[in-house]
Amino acid sequence: MKITVFGAGYVGLVTGACLAEMGNHVMCVDVEPHRIDMLRQGQVPIYESGLDVLIQRNAAGRRLQFTLDAEAAVAHGTLQIIAVGTPPEEDGSADLQHMLAVARTIGQHMTDYKVVVDKSTVPVGTADKVRAAIAEQLAARGTPMSYAVVSNPEFLKEGAAIEDFMKPDRIVIGSDDDRATLLMRALYSPFMRNSDRLVVMDVRSAEFTKYAANAMLATRISFMNELAHLADAVGADIEWVRKGIGSDPRIGTHFLYPGTGYGGSCFPKDVKALIRTGRDNGVPLRVLDAVEAANGAQKQVLVQRVVQRFGEDLRGRAFALWGLAFKPDTDDMREAPSRVVVEELTRRGARVQAYDPVAMPQAQRLLSHVEGFTTVPSAQAALEGADALLIVTEWREFRTPDFEHIKATLRRPLVLDGRNLYEPELMQAMGLEYVGIGRGVRAGSQLA
Ligand code: UDX
Repeated sequence: MKITVFGAGYVGLVTGACLAEMGNHVMCVDVEPHRIDMLRQGQVPIYESGLDVLIQRNAAGRRLQFTLDAEAAVAHGTLQIIAVGTPPEEDGSADLQHMLAVARTIGQHMTDYKVVVDKSTVPVGTADKVRAAIAEQLAARGTPMSYAVVSNPEFLKEGAAIEDFMKPDRIVIGSDDDRATLLMRALYSPFMRNSDRLVVMDVRSAEFTKYAANAMLATRISFMNELAHLADAVGADIEWVRKGIGSDPRIGTHFLYPGTGYGGSCFPKDVKALIRTGRDNGVPLRVLDAVEAANGAQKQVLVQRVVQRFGEDLRGRAFALWGLAFKPDTDDMREAPSRVVVEELTRRGARVQAYDPVAMPQAQRLLSHVEGFTTVPSAQAALEGADALLIVTEWREFRTPDFEHIKATLRRPLVLDGRNLYEPELMQAMGLEYVGIGRGVRAGSQLA
């Protein structure tokens, strides 16, 4: 199949590369010359495990091309996938300007039937706006032409995006055009060889599904974070509670991990956008309001623990910080809890010595203005002269550190773990003071 993908960003590149891998001919178009230049030379502008190999292989096989030429791109594909950014506006609603600009471009240049696929996360009703933008251009050209607009939200997790695309749990298609539905079915059938995981529905329901999924997952996380606080207060261990409830198939084991709050490009943005949609439609989303508020508070949890120990004035203090990315296996620091930790500690006069296996260049760009923030080349180096170790991201390399070295290097053997990586008893036995999230029973005596 011939496919055009608008947007050579995260979603566009993963989608384009995976579709090319299945033998499709994909043309990826973007407005940024530098990005296209890099991609043509086989360099991938984002970090996603396995993506570079996939792009290089398919580019070499001429199934994946990159272009700045929007007209040629519109001519190329029967399927026109829109995967451009929809950043949040100040009021939380999604900014659709890039999306609608692409729609107009398609309307200006199309010469035959096209299926326009909305892949970016967009509010309910966006497909109608895309349809109208195309219709306007066609009317201006005086050339009526048939086309369909379908919604096909992505559910890719950063760090596991290729796997998620290749082996999807489900593929949601919102379509009210039979020909388009058939083409979408053909597009995805190679990804569903053993079971039909295509859920076809109306366009608005498909658009809504993406927000509902992310809001539900964010809700679980905020709920567990609040339960963790209660566990601390009453002397229960949230890790046992998590296992105890997760074995109920109605609850399930995923997304029950308390931590330092959810971040990333999706949850914070989508929760805000859905709250906004609720408001615009006169439907209060009280649960989601609370989810958002609880998450804001959760990003402060490590800071509060530091302040409890060392007081508000942190001048002369230094803290080792392990993990800057909002989660492991990515360099993404959008809405990352680490940013709150760095900003709050340095604001109180502390120095923060941070290490992250991948996100340090990103951190240097984003936090270069923060006085007292430095990055260091290793997890061990971060410990030098630090008053305590704070763990913000659960990278695998932090799971089995040299505890003796931690103890010997820190000024005070205090580990504030925002991701519950270690067993409190083990830490205690090694003479380390350890505070996790909601591990009240065994860490309780040390919490004051
Ligand atoms: C998410 C959705 O999972 C994906 O389907 C959607 O398309 C985009 O948003 P992503 O943002 O890449 O993907 O990361 P995810 O792995 O879902 O984690 C999101 C955040 O929740 C991270 O900050 C993570 O640390 C946090 N989290 C996740 C928890 O705090 N606890 C958990 O149990 C799970």
